[in-house]
Amino acid sequence: MKIRELSRRLLSHPTSDGAGVKLRRSLGARPDARLDPLLMLDEFYSDDPQDYLGGFPPHPHRGFETVTYMLDGHMRHEDHLGNRGDLGPGGVQWMTAGRGIVHSEMPQQSEGRMRGFQLWINLPAAEKMQPARYADIQADAVPELTTAHGRVRVLAGRLELDGREARGPINGTADSMSTDPLYLDIRLGAAGVLVLPVASGHNVFLYAFDGEVRIGEQAEALAAHEGAVLGAGAAVRVEAGPDGAGVLLIAARPIGEPVAQYGPFVMNTREELEQALADYRDGRLTEPA
Ligand code: FE2
Repeated sequence: MKIRELSRRLLSHPTSDGAGVKLRRSLGARPDARLDPLLMLDEFYSDDPQDYLGGFPPHPHRGFETVTYMLDGHMRHEDHLGNRGDLGPGGVQWMTAGRGIVHSEMPQQSEGRMRGFQLWINLPAAEKMQPARYADIQADAVPELTTAHGRVRVLAGRLELDGREARGPINGTADSMSTDPLYLDIRLGAAGVLVLPVASGHNVFLYAFDGEVRIGEQAEALAAHEGAVLGAGAAVRVEAGPDGAGVLLIAARPIGEPVAQYGPFVMNTREELEQALADYRDGRLTEPA
């Protein structure tokens, strides 16, 4: 099985979004820092509530999916469909904005700390205008595979490890998602090594969030808060140093269509963006098609 090697580093940049939430953005920090179909990855991490309690007051989305994964603290969600959710530590929220959603996302601390990630996954043209949907999946519904070297939580997709299989609560095959995402939270013990199979036609992104991790057979080091685009292959090899490591693995099938983005709207053409803006302005973004 050919092991994927590091192809391109993506440093994360401190920025803020919403009502002043401080975060680090790797994917999506610039238009050329996307990895089809992955549009954006933000890490938010703070011990100071002033950094995030303003949250993300009501705002729209159209044309893609947002995936929120919490490590510490909570995220409260409300949307125009009447959904209310409170995502706890270890839980994941999968929201398909489709033709339009207006929602608020308000981070809450637990014991002073709030930590999590938000990923944006694009949708192909044929799926952009589907009705919006949303699921809050709490930690106990996320399967985990363990080995002597570490453990892997499967947030989305299917993983085989040492002859065992886990299917995440979001499953591209079952949910008819043509991007078929695989989203893993990998924790390695001291000097732990894991080799994980990934679909060879999918793009793969790694993001180190705890400690340093070495990638591939060439053992290229990735520091905490750094992202990496991987090259071709059918498996990913990650290795931790003496202090262990935590790393996200996100893989998905590329869409291969033009991307036109204006803030929270991601379409194929400029005309479709103008339509999204007009629909939002006129209150039509969230009307049934
Ligand atoms: Fe949002």
